[in-house]
Amino acid sequence: MQFIKDELKELEDKALFRKMKTVNGAQGKISLIEGEKYLSFCSNNYLDLANHPDVKAAVINAVDKFGWGSGASRLVSGNMSMHEAIENKIAKFKEKESAIVFPTGYMANVGTISSLTGKGDLVISDRLNHASIIDGCRLSQAEFRVYPHSNMEKLEKILKAGNSYRRKLIVTDTVFSMDGDLALMEQITTLAKKYEAMTMGDEAHATGVFGQNRRGALEFLGLEDEVDVVMGTLSKAIGGIGGFVCGSRDLIDYLRNKAKSFIYTTAMPPSVCAASIAGIELIEQKPELAQSLWRNINYLRAILTKQNVNVCNSQGPIVPIIIGDAEKAVKLANILYNNKILVPAIRPPTVPKGSSRLRVTLMSSHTKADIDRLVNMLAMEIE
Ligand SMILES: Cc1ncc(COP(=O)(O)O)c(C=O)c1O
Repeated sequence: MQFIKDELKELEDKALFRKMKTVNGAQGKISLIEGEKYLSFCSNNYLDLANHPDVKAAVINAVDKFGWGSGASRLVSGNMSMHEAIENKIAKFKEKESAIVFPTGYMANVGTISSLTGKGDLVISDRLNHASIIDGCRLSQAEFRVYPHSNMEKLEKILKAGNSYRRKLIVTDTVFSMDGDLALMEQITTLAKKYEAMTMGDEAHATGVFGQNRRGALEFLGLEDEVDVVMGTLSKAIGGIGGFVCGSRDLIDYLRNKAKSFIYTTAMPPSVCAASIAGIELIEQKPELAQSLWRNINYLRAILTKQNVNVCNSQGPIVPIIIGDAEKAVKLANILYNNKILVPAIRPPTVPKGSSRLRVTLMSSHTKADIDRLVNMLAMEIE
């Protein structure tokens, strides 16, 4: 087992060793770490629902009524009324015929991609897609092709060459998790039609944030009816944990019968379903939450643009500040940390080599003063 020591040392030497910080309190814009308060710019809890009183009340009520565990997988005896309630809620919210929930978003991607495609099929993925998509593609045993980020010429070339495959699936984040930009969904869906490919969009970072009704990037782009498989998470703007897929009733019935990460795992606790229902209701009933998030996004973006800071083509609450060198990114993150501001340095393998970055994420509860504090500290440190 010497290789473990060797590989850990190699990670440390390359400034790639990862350590966790312990948050000793609820999630929010302030994180309590070792008794000190840190202003957090690194949570996917975009609408600050993770500790919302309505969501907590829903959890407590559900625990009272249904207990904590679900006891078995959905297809054995773990399918409880709360699972059906959250699936109905998601389908209604997303204006789809049907929905299925998985214990995590990761499992939703892995199970869905690997059951829609298999040997003899072609699965095509953007280079910057989330790791769960990549793992789903690999697990599927389909021919797996990757196109450079948002390069539609390369995507078309792959599709053109792929005529002989039984089925073709193009899968993409709709909002990229590390660059924060939007996928070119209009071009992707047009190419899919031309070459008779299925499409799947991962709305993890878009659900609750983008679109007039906060349904996601596909709503924002006016393309909700053009994508066959819509995946999302309950773990980001909705504030808890879980993944989902929505679409036609046939698609969802198919996944219930075929997706191994749905079939062979214990059903999520009923209180998690209740929390997600409460979260979606808040998103529906309180547009001011997303409006406040967008005010913050526009405010930060305006300042960084004025300062010529490279933030890729990001458009939403994920604002990457590209540094390049991993060591330098870590050093900057440490300086911010020493000044009680939490912004993570994101390094390879999460992002390509040479594109290490500070990944800032905004929340609805940040104030202009919070953002000014971050920007002033960054301005002092980034030349
Ligand atoms: C684009 C994308 N898809 C899927 C996931 C996985 O979701 P979850 O954290 O709910 O497992 C994430 C988050 O980590 C993500 O960023």
